[in-house]
Amino acid sequence: MAMTENDFIPSSYAELKVSGNTTWKSPSNIALVKYWGKKENQIPANPSVSLTLDVCATTTSISYTKLNEKATDFSFELFFEGTAKEDFKPKIHTFFRRIEKYLPFLKNYHLVIETSNSFPHSSGIASSASGMGALALCLMDIEKRLNPEITKDCFNRKASFLARLGSGSAARSINGSIVQWGKHADIPESSDLYGIEYPYKIHSVFEDYQDTILLVDKGQKQVSSTVGHDLMHNHPFANQRFAQAHTNLTELKSIFEKGNLEEFVKIVENEALTLHAMMMTSQPYFILMKPNTLEIINKIWAFRKTSNTHVCFTLDAGANVHVLYPKKEKEAVYGFIKTELLKHCENGQHICDRLGVGAKKC
Ligand code: DP6
Repeated sequence: MAMTENDFIPSSYAELKVSGNTTWKSPSNIALVKYWGKKENQIPANPSVSLTLDVCATTTSISYTKLNEKATDFSFELFFEGTAKEDFKPKIHTFFRRIEKYLPFLKNYHLVIETSNSFPHSSGIASSASGMGALALCLMDIEKRLNPEITKDCFNRKASFLARLGSGSAARSINGSIVQWGKHADIPESSDLYGIEYPYKIHSVFEDYQDTILLVDKGQKQVSSTVGHDLMHNHPFANQRFAQAHTNLTELKSIFEKGNLEEFVKIVENEALTLHAMMMTSQPYFILMKPNTLEIINKIWAFRKTSNTHVCFTLDAGANVHVLYPKKEKEAVYGFIKTELLKHCENGQHICDRLGVGAKKC
């Protein structure tokens, strides 16, 4: 039977541990089928699927100390890359409020949270997925010490469930190389509440798939994800878009299985451009691509035609470009990136990432 939110409320703990600490490293992920639009309580308007990254990650530690009595509000300190960060606290506070029901021990502890990213904060690379993923895993680790019998599957599922309440895409930053989040008719075990490792066959061509992230514009996001998702309410094309995500996921099943890269490229680029098309056709409307984003896209298309490779691009809600290609095409494609694409990046900056396996305890 499908799980419901209530299944994540724990029964009482045997005994609260006095103090301890835990550290987790959680990866970033890049969506192939995009999550864009949500309902109440961080329920996605459509299912999505992503590649887990390897290099881009957040490492978070929590030191916890039991309070003499349960506090009336959450008691925590927050350090980002060694410095106290007051301006990040409201987001964490909101997150704690959303998850308190599922982690009733939270107000019994004082928490010192220390977090750092493997990528520059100002790179325009979203850190909410890896950040909320790592935080959720640390909190689950504390719960595990109070309830040691929890299985690995339940642990991961609840970590993803909690991470989702922090940031939707974080549900996909817990476990697995290819992760599906959101209910889809072809995948009975899929859920709107948490991400799952993609359950069907994946062709070996996707092993060690490369993602070279081109930093076109390192400025702060022009549209926050909250505003972005809201734009899908009353959007004239919303229903067609949500239906399209379901169709694209159906098609991906045999593409993943057969390793059909010609078809893979079509779905991935279609999803990226649709995401931006949704932003261009909402009220208010936005153009998040920069001239250099378009230069890069056109060069990728021209190179793909003449090179016999399967390089393609995807985009997040910003101007940076993720260049995706199989490992066996790395020499050709990375050579092309260096000579043709890096000139369109801010100071030539880019990150060479690849498919990863999911979060790790440190
Ligand atoms: C364009 O996960 O950042 O990256 O749930 O409001 O935190 P919130 O949104 P967020 O949205 C990510 C949107 C996206 C596409 C995707 O990752 O699927």
